[in-house]
Amino acid sequence: MKEKHKKSISRRDSLKRMGLFMASAAAWGISSLASCSKNKKKRIILYFTATGNCLYVARELADENTELLSIPQLVKENRYELEADEIGIVYPIYGHMPPNRVREYIQKTKLKAGYKFAVLTYGNRKCNAVEIWDDISRKAGCPFDYITTMIMVDNWLPNFDMNEQMKIDKHIPENLERITADLSAQRRWHEPFTDEERRQHEGFLQATGINPEVGFLMQSQDAFIVTDACIGCGICAEVCPRGNYKLTSQGVTTEGDCEFCFACIQNCPQKTIQFKQMREVNPNARYRNEHVSLWSIKEANRQ
Ligand SMILES: Cc1cc2nc3c(=O)[nH]c(=O)nc-3n(C[C@H](O)[C@H](O)[C@H](O)COP(=O)(O)O)c2cc1C
Ligand code: SF4
Ligand code: SF4
Repeated sequence: MKEKHKKSISRRDSLKRMGLFMASAAAWGISSLASCSKNKKKRIILYFTATGNCLYVARELADENTELLSIPQLVKENRYELEADEIGIVYPIYGHMPPNRVREYIQKTKLKAGYKFAVLTYGNRKCNAVEIWDDISRKAGCPFDYITTMIMVDNWLPNFDMNEQMKIDKHIPENLERITADLSAQRRWHEPFTDEERRQHEGFLQATGINPEVGFLMQSQDAFIVTDACIGCGICAEVCPRGNYKLTSQGVTTEGDCEFCFACIQNCPQKTIQFKQMREVNPNARYRNEHVSLWSIKEANRQ
């Protein structure tokens, strides 16, 4: 089915509008798996998720010998050393780059595994996301054997109507099958990209002024407001991987370094969290992956 959504040049324009181009801006924990079945490989899958796509993919790539670990929880627990036969990572691309928490995690972490794979989810335009992850992970001394992308619902509210996104066939089962087969064969492969895709990413960086060494890193007090429709349910406080929301006697406040992941705005049941400076295509439409519960997002992200 042909995708009908707008071109990502508009994503860049939204960021420009927001003035993003102004922005320039332990203790070791050891995890190793108890062997469930002697002959099967032990696999760890790390994930970062705001609206459930990456958690869904991580679950689908897991078998009975797999341990799923949320990166925000690992950071909270100060766990920076992991060991298994295979270690994978699933994250959403933000401006074709990894979320800041994911980048920081890989830079601090020792991953010991014979085979490392990465699956990068996106919604509309991946550019050279594979190369970006290859560079970051290599520089961190942790190169990945297999890197691929997977298209899913695009949760970027400024350009996409979530209700429309959910109607588009993104060929998810076919892609999961492809990746599952590659992982079973321990395929060593990086999904190719074109020079044009690399140029598009460079253009994106130029237009937005985003620092490629940091990626998206906002301040949530500058990015979001909470309107009077808030019912004080506390969901925002639990789904934020940075722990930025607080329930106070004055109402709900938000402050701190922000991934711009949209877990808060997408999961607020009252739709009372709004962008301060960006417009939305459909402020009445919100998204969470149909296979992932709100509880799972809370478990993944709560600080
Ligand atoms: C801040 C931000 C930036 C994004 N940038 C891109 C992008 O450059 N290209 C793209 O195709 N999708 C982009 N997306 C969409 C997400 O990568 C995609 O919806 C992802 O599957 C969400 O995963 P999750 O549900 O696990 O959070 C962006 C989303 C956000 C919130
Ligand atoms: S999730 Fe929405 S309604 Fe619930 S406390 Fe947060 S802002 Fe208020
Ligand atoms: S404030 Fe919202 S967008 Fe920022 S990190 Fe928290 S949940 Fe994500």
